[in-house]
Amino acid sequence: MQTPWIPFIPPSASTLSGQVDALYFYLSGVTVFFTLLIAGVLVFFVIKYRRRSPFEIPRPIAGSHKLETLWSVIPFVIAMSMFGWGAQLYFQMYRPPQNAVEVYVVGKQWMWKIQHSTGQREINELHVPVGRKIKLIMTAEDTIHDFFVPAFRMKADVLPGRYTTQWFEATTPGTYHLFCAEYCGMNHSGMIGSVIVMQPSEFDNWLSGNAAQQSPAVAGQQLFQSLGCVSCHGANGEGGRGPALVGLFGRQVFLTNGQTLTADEAYVRESIENPQAKIVSGFGPIMPTFQGQVTPEQLIQIMSFIKSLQTTTSGSAPSGAPSAAGPSPKAQVPTAATASSPANKQ
Ligand code: CUA
Repeated sequence: MQTPWIPFIPPSASTLSGQVDALYFYLSGVTVFFTLLIAGVLVFFVIKYRRRSPFEIPRPIAGSHKLETLWSVIPFVIAMSMFGWGAQLYFQMYRPPQNAVEVYVVGKQWMWKIQHSTGQREINELHVPVGRKIKLIMTAEDTIHDFFVPAFRMKADVLPGRYTTQWFEATTPGTYHLFCAEYCGMNHSGMIGSVIVMQPSEFDNWLSGNAAQQSPAVAGQQLFQSLGCVSCHGANGEGGRGPALVGLFGRQVFLTNGQTLTADEAYVRESIENPQAKIVSGFGPIMPTFQGQVTPEQLIQIMSFIKSLQTTTSGSAPSGAPSAAGPSPKAQVPTAATASSPANKQ
């Protein structure tokens, strides 16, 4: 980790951190420039236009449209440049790329639990390879935490009962601080860890050296069976009394109330914990709630299993998990579009 040239500034080690710094320097530069300009002009005018005798009466001042236009337009342009630049960077930071590797993060008092989609678990440590896009899917077990890696200029709240995501691509190998940046109780200040950025080959070594525990998708598949989801959604999510789950993520879902939504983590979580909230068109409100029956980690596992049903061709399943027992081509027939067709017939 090289020492940055400005004291106290964290090292810059992701593809976006340089851009965040550039924007920050621009904001600071504009602020410093105008502070000096205004202070300088203030002092200059105080001296130049000082009262010279107790009876002095200043010359009358007429308005100047030119001057007024100028001091409105210039700040407007500067403010909009800040907005435009900031918005562009914001969208870049908050829209994870499609091809990112997914890593699950669960915050709890007072530790970070991390699981890779290949099954490796870590506590207060996150190993990642350099030059690969990593997407964090984060939730909390108890209270609000905040996943903050200064070297990546990356910070987002981690909330119970909700999923937040962040992504980054590390550029420099090294060990970087990980902080919890939301006061979360007595040992909040101890809720720290490190992100270890490695060369891809080193990372592969690390992965193989860490006996992969069950991948989240496989654990999710087992939960899917033990919780009885299979009786309605089919053993491989092919559907039945309940909607098909194959290829669900990212797909359009048609609801009985006429609304359409795109299936994401939040929708799947809600459908597990509060199934009556959004019922897929063509199905009845027969699913019981699983609120309190699954932990946040188990929820992530089930979600990961449902995501793995995405891959229709065998071999490309991320964890290889349900590929053996994976959906047969036949099982994919009842997708949302077809599942909603019974409603259309009525
Ligand atoms: Cu977790 Cu502060």
